[in-house]
Amino acid sequence: MRLILGGAGFIGSAMTRTLHNPVVYDALTYAGRRENLTDVEHVFVKGDILDIRFLETVIEEYRPEVVFNFAAQTHVDRSIADPQPFIQTNVQGTVNILELARRHHFRYVHVSTDEVYGEQEADEASPLRPSSPYSASKASADMFVLAYVRTYGVDAFIVRPSNNYGPRQFPEKLIPKSLLRMLAGKEVPIYGDGKQVRDWIHVEDTARIIASLADKGEAGRVYNIPGGQLATNIEIVSAIAEIAGVEPKLKFVAD
Ligand SMILES: NC(=O)c1ccc[n+]([C@@H]2O[C@H](COP(=O)([O-])OP(=O)(O)OC[C@H]3O[C@@H](n4cnc5c(N)ncnc54)[C@H](O)[C@@H]3O)[C@@H](O)[C@H]2O)c1
Repeated sequence: MRLILGGAGFIGSAMTRTLHNPVVYDALTYAGRRENLTDVEHVFVKGDILDIRFLETVIEEYRPEVVFNFAAQTHVDRSIADPQPFIQTNVQGTVNILELARRHHFRYVHVSTDEVYGEQEADEASPLRPSSPYSASKASADMFVLAYVRTYGVDAFIVRPSNNYGPRQFPEKLIPKSLLRMLAGKEVPIYGDGKQVRDWIHVEDTARIIASLADKGEAGRVYNIPGGQLATNIEIVSAIAEIAGVEPKLKFVAD
């Protein structure tokens, strides 16, 4: 049995489609939606990873061999406005899962992000240079994962995907937000000069790669998941406008 924490969100719901009838545990925050899972077989449990007692009862009931963690606060701008929920869910939530992995001996697949490396070109050995409360909370959680492997022998590893695109992403993120605003005839905000280069990967590719790593991944290792598709934010927005057949009204705002 496989347990997907945060399985009602963007990447978690793609993961739910990749596995056979998993259990999904999700607090259904503003970013998580039951409708993301309407067409896929799964068992749903509404719960918070911060509620370690309830999460433990779910683990005792379903006895997962593998637990995937997609439950997180994920929006950089929100983390700048208020870091606390990021520290809670992303750091304390991860430590809760690690504690349960210690007690119940499941394999833990920890989903991090390439944003922990900052702007540099990075491989898995690169230093961590988080530049927002969001990426700092993700980097902190990663350190706890590695510490629990080393200290307690927990069977866990880390994946660090790059920017994901595809269906069911909450429309606060670049692609769905730009598309919806364009279609509504509204201005599309571009941070800075829009020339920041990002690496993009389709969400189904990320889910497939994480599923295959669930069997092959080695405890204590980090696996970057790049898509190999580089584009500036301006290029992404222009491509969306071309496909949508609209002339976008760009608004440059401070990064
Ligand atoms: N989207 C990307 O481009 C991207 C890239 C790299 C890494 N990641 C990482 O992948 C993971 C998933 O990202 P996403 O884009 O699918 O996020 P998302 O915001 O779409 O979904 C997060 C999910 O977690 C749930 N959740 C939030 N707090 C919770 C809590 N305390 N307890 C239980 N459930 C909770 C939400 O309800 C939601 O369903 C995150 O760890 C993120 O850092 C995302």
